[in-house]
Formats: sequence, C-alpha cells, structure tokens
Amino acid sequence: MGDPLYRPRRLRDNVILRQMLAEVDLRADQLIMPLFVRPGRGQRRPIGSMPGQFQLSVDMLVEEARRIADTGVRGLILFGIPESKDAEGSSGIDPSGIVPQAVAALKQAVPQMLVMTDVCLCEYTDHGHCGVLAEREGRQVVDNDHTVDVLARMAQVHAQAGADVVAPSDMMDGRVRAIRLALDADGYGHVPIMAYSVKYASNFYGPFREAAESPPQFGDRRGYQMDWRRRREAETEAALDVIEGADIIMVKPAMAYLDVLSGLRQRIALPLAAYHVSGEYAMIKAAAERGWIDERGTALESLTAIRRAGADLILTYFAPQAAEWLREERSG
Ligand code: PBG
Repeated sequence: MGDPLYRPRRLRDNVILRQMLAEVDLRADQLIMPLFVRPGRGQRRPIGSMPGQFQLSVDMLVEEARRIADTGVRGLILFGIPESKDAEGSSGIDPSGIVPQAVAALKQAVPQMLVMTDVCLCEYTDHGHCGVLAEREGRQVVDNDHTVDVLARMAQVHAQAGADVVAPSDMMDGRVRAIRLALDADGYGHVPIMAYSVKYASNFYGPFREAAESPPQFGDRRGYQMDWRRRREAETEAALDVIEGADIIMVKPAMAYLDVLSGLRQRIALPLAAYHVSGEYAMIKAAAERGWIDERGTALESLTAIRRAGADLILTYFAPQAAEWLREERSG
C-alpha cells in the first residue's frame, strides 16, 4: 500500500477474487418484511404510493406469509389498521383486535415465520399521534407517561396472542423499561424487545402513513421523534434503551442515516437493525417505473450498503423480492 507500483484494479479484474474479497454479505434471513393487516376477508388493497404492497385481511395475510416464507425470508413485522379509532387508541389494546388476530392466525398457519409486532398508538388514535394527548399551556401535546402505560399493555396483548418479538416505535421516554417490566410480570420474560431506539422525524415515512392510514391530523411528530440535525443524540437514545432492557437496537430511516448506524456499530454490542422505510422503497420503485434506474441493482446495492454500515437486520419492503434476486444470483 502506498507503493506507486500498487494497482488496485488487479483485484477487481478477476470475478473469483471479487467474490472472495467481498467484506459483507446480504442474506434472506437478515431481512424482515413489514406487512399491513386490515379487517375483513379476501381483502388485498393496493397501497398507491408503495407499488407491490397491500393492506391485507387476515386470511390474505396468511397466504402472503406463506409465499414470503418460500423465498427464505424468516421474519415479518405487523402494522394494524383497526376497525375503529379513538382519542386513546383503545382498539390497540383490544385482545381481539386486528393485530392479535393476525398474530394468532400466522403462528398457527406459518409457525416457521418469526412474527414481530409494531407497538405504537398512531395507527389506533383518531388524531394520528403516537400517544395519548394532554393539554399543556393551551396546546395539545403527547402525554409521555400515560402513553407508556398504554404501550406496555399493548405489548402484553401482542405477546399473549403469540408475538415472537415486540417493537415499540413511538419514541416515548422510558417505554422500553415499562414494556420489559410488563412482559416479565405477565410471564413473557422470554419475548425480546426490538426498540426503534433512534427514530428521526423523517419525511421518508410519507408513503407509510397512507399505508397505515396514520397521518397526524394536526401538527407533526417533531415533539417526540428525533431532529435529523442531531447525531450524538443517537448515542444517548441507544444507550438508554440498552439500559432499559432492549434486545435489538434499531435505526430509522436507513439510507440517509448510515453515518448514525455506523457510529452506533462502534459503540453498541447488541444487534442493530435498520429500517429501509416506505419513502426509500417508493423512490426506487418510482424511478424504476420510469426506467430511470435499475430496480434490482439499486435495491440490492442499498440493502448491502445498510449491512456494510453495520446493520445485522434490515426491515425492508423489498424483503421477498430481494431474497429471490439473491437466490437467482447464487444459482448464477
Ligand atoms: C409508527 C411507525 C411509522 C413507521 C413505522 N412505525 C410511521 C411514523 O412514525 O410516522 C414508518 C415506516 C415506514 O415509513 O416504512 N408506528
């Protein structure tokens, strides 16, 4: 190295050497597929801003999970679209609500699939915020501690239905600890928590909010999700969740936050996950539809870059498709 006679291209020219020297891999079992479940039967409603993604009723969700399992993907994360919404998000803690129903059906029909659940109130509140509201000095704010109590209950309800992992995405302070205590007290000490520890108030969630029917009806989420101009706060958030008992630490979104991810990789020994979110998916899909970029190439490059930055797991809407592409590459 540094010798003027050295030519880096010598190791690029040979396809075998290129393969031997790859420093990161991307495998189907590192991918987790997000799915949206809604009431009804036979429902498979396309999500306009996320081509190839659907809101599924429980029966169709089970079919979809079987198909996904066949690709080699081993994990799902569920988002619920409930029958009804109210200010407290009470449909989210109903033991016969949409997510508990879906979890029970999946664990019965596709037991080989790891089922994770998103724990948050935004899908269940009529105002679309991630928690219960309170009034403070004449304005509506999300009441942290009241919300934490509801989230802990939601995690119990999901675990009772059979969820393998619970994943709080609300960004309330202290929720990981409260969920850990609630699960332990209820006999679910074995259920891991994948915490959305480092979640920025991102524009890249736009398509998801259509998919989950969860846009905030007033204001925005900047009072609880992180400001993207701050990087060091990621370390504070991750460290807190480690102390509170998280098992997996997540960074979200992914591509615009690879510096954050790689910084945490140096400091956190726990497994790291990254969420390649709806807007990141939609951008690739939209440009590929216009013929402006190659979908397969850009998707696999993006997911590999997220692994290179330090993610053990990647939540991505490309999961089953990427698994198929990877299989095709292996069979050459
Ligand atoms: C909140 C939640 C959101 C996402 C996952 N969990 C939306 C938000 O915070 O507004 C976004 C995921 C995506 O954009 O793909 N429950």
